[in-house]
Amino acid sequence: MIGLSIESATDHVEAAVLEDGAVRAHVIEDVSHGHTRRLTPIVQEALRISGVSPSGLEWVAADLGPGSFTGVRVGLATARAYAFAGGARVLGASSLTALAHGAGARRALVVPLVGAGRRDVYAGFYRADTRGAVRLMASPRVIAADALLDVVAEAHALLPGWALRFVGPGAGRERERLEAAHPTSTALEFRHGGLSALDLAAAVMRTGGPGVGLPAEGREADPVYVRGAQAEERVRRAALGATPTTVRHMTLDDVPAVAEAEARTFSDAWSASYFRSLIGYPGGWIRIAERGGQLAGYLVGGVQAPTCDLENICVLPSHRRCGVANVLMADLFAHCRDQKATEVLLEVRVSNDPAQALYRALGFRLAGVRRGYYRAPDEDAVLMRCPVPPADASAPSLERLS
Ligand SMILES: CC(C)(COP(=O)(O)OP(=O)(O)OC[C@H]1O[C@@H](n2cnc3c(N)ncnc32)[C@H](O)[C@@H]1OP(=O)(O)O)[C@@H](O)C(=O)NCCC(=O)NCCS
Repeated sequence: MIGLSIESATDHVEAAVLEDGAVRAHVIEDVSHGHTRRLTPIVQEALRISGVSPSGLEWVAADLGPGSFTGVRVGLATARAYAFAGGARVLGASSLTALAHGAGARRALVVPLVGAGRRDVYAGFYRADTRGAVRLMASPRVIAADALLDVVAEAHALLPGWALRFVGPGAGRERERLEAAHPTSTALEFRHGGLSALDLAAAVMRTGGPGVGLPAEGREADPVYVRGAQAEERVRRAALGATPTTVRHMTLDDVPAVAEAEARTFSDAWSASYFRSLIGYPGGWIRIAERGGQLAGYLVGGVQAPTCDLENICVLPSHRRCGVANVLMADLFAHCRDQKATEVLLEVRVSNDPAQALYRALGFRLAGVRRGYYRAPDEDAVLMRCPVPPADASAPSLERLS
């Protein structure tokens, strides 16, 4: 199998041509901000040295980020163009996953770090077991360097007695501070200078899908930006102001549309009959969100004071990033206060980045890992918990119809 690996998520750009794991060419250049200008010549040079033409490539891999927005976009577009021209497959892995799998750590929380501009870093959270097998533990985040140690402490508390290993170019940058807090935590010396096309190639050849931090089998390789682009944020906020969200109890009439949305969203979807059985169940809090008179989302919770389990929340794709989940959660918190519940608990797939971002923004924190909790695809769950917040005028405006 001959392939081309394009690593362009930071200023340190690499292109490698590999045949069955053996390196036929490896070109490295520091492009500063010149990804657009320099990437194609670097790839062409790697192909020239290897003697392979684009039509001889069976796969082309790109770093999906996080890292430089331009670097990731240009890298993925270039990979797709070469793949299209030669009929190759496009593969991808995130910069953090490539670092975590290549690090060679054992019995450790592995935290790959990539610079995110100013004093921010992108951080990933992976668990390397005693045999060195690496699994994803929580979604990547962008963190101010000053807050990094607190965030890492939250994840490290889930693996008592295990080592802590920081890897990647962001670890090189923050090294003194990391070592002062956790001696030997950067001792792997792993890719502190820059990302590697060879790690990327090794990562995309792995199996395991989302549970180990890779795209699901057969899924298009989408970019992993972690931090949204400012222009997209502006459009989203304009949409949020335009149409209010209302919430009410779910009725039997809602079940067909809810079950259809559920089936479209989840690989391990709940059935219509299961939704029907929930309505009227003691302690159940089964809510519908509507925008413009249309189903926008739903939430299923179960309250037994002092705790509440968040069992399901889903927002239809055309209503996402408009604050619907925030409204459903504010409604759930209000119900918890009514019922004297003081804490909300939930499980979420380790790879479910939007949901973990939502929960984190609401105040949920990591509380445990459930090994092999999910099927189709197999994946660990992260357990999160949040104290029920006091009623707050700054919470999303909530129109409760029943
Ligand atoms: C997770 C999900 C419920 C979020 O619903 P939503 O209505 O789009 O979320 P909101 O617009 O209310 O977002 C609230 C906050 O969550 C975070 N968030 C939500 N989606 C995000 C995303 N795709 N990326 C990053 N942050 C995200 C943000 O902090 C956001 O606040 P902001 O808009 O001020 O930045 C929705 O993406 C979904 O239905 N996903 C599929 C089903 C699912 O995974 N359910 C969870 C099962 S555990």
